[in-house]
Amino acid sequence: MSMNDHEAVRRQYADEAGLETRRAVWQPTADGRDPVEVAAAVARATGARAVLEVGCGTGVFAERLMADNPHATVIATDQSERLVELTSARGVDARLADVQDLPFADASFDLVAAMWMLYHVSDLDRGLAEIRRVLRPGGRLLAVTNGNEHTADLRRDAGGEPLVTSFSSENGEDALRRHFEHVSREDLATRAVFPDHAAAVGYLDTLQDDVEWRLPYFEGPREYAGHVTVFVAS
Ligand SMILES: C[S@@+](CC[C@H](N)C(=O)[O-])C[C@H]1O[C@@H](n2cnc3c(N)ncnc32)[C@H](O)[C@@H]1O
Repeated sequence: MSMNDHEAVRRQYADEAGLETRRAVWQPTADGRDPVEVAAAVARATGARAVLEVGCGTGVFAERLMADNPHATVIATDQSERLVELTSARGVDARLADVQDLPFADASFDLVAAMWMLYHVSDLDRGLAEIRRVLRPGGRLLAVTNGNEHTADLRRDAGGEPLVTSFSSENGEDALRRHFEHVSREDLATRAVFPDHAAAVGYLDTLQDDVEWRLPYFEGPREYAGHVTVFVAS
């Protein structure tokens, strides 16, 4: 099973359980920088009037975009019916759509947000070309993703290997430069804090790897390092 196998992605996001479990453990960097806050600040600074989020998950960020940018029209999309339903329940205009085939006219948006989703797209270049197509000239893509060292120690401790994806801190910039002229980035050393061993096992169980995780028992809380990159492309 791979991170960008269409059927595996559909199964993984048929409901919100795994996503909620993983979100709950993430903490900002030691100096208080949070990737979602960095992304929200970029969105505000662009002054975008028409915003699209692709792969919106449960809709938390789309709702935030609406609150932070009251003059903007925000549309959120996801390939999961359940996640579109949950996003709509937040009052967001949410639609079922695959990023590889966006149901919008050329040059419709000033900003597209793709948060932790491009590594799931089976044809990444097709997805990026679609995003470029729906952006107005000078419009921006805000793409957030993880690096190879993200939870790598947790994966190693549990008998696995670091996860290398098709859109990561390491290879994401090259992918973006195939479609966009300018790319900037901010890298953040985030932290996953598990209150106990069971919580760490529960986190591993939400991952779609073909690995039988065996995390040696530990007492009390434990912290593992994450690595997140916020890319801005235009
Ligand atoms: C790791 S989750 C991130 C969700 C949300 N952006 C967040 O930050 O919490 C990945 C999301 O991308 C969606 N997704 C995966 N492949 C997609 C595709 N080809 N088109 C649209 N959405 C996709 C999944 O359904 C899921 O909601």
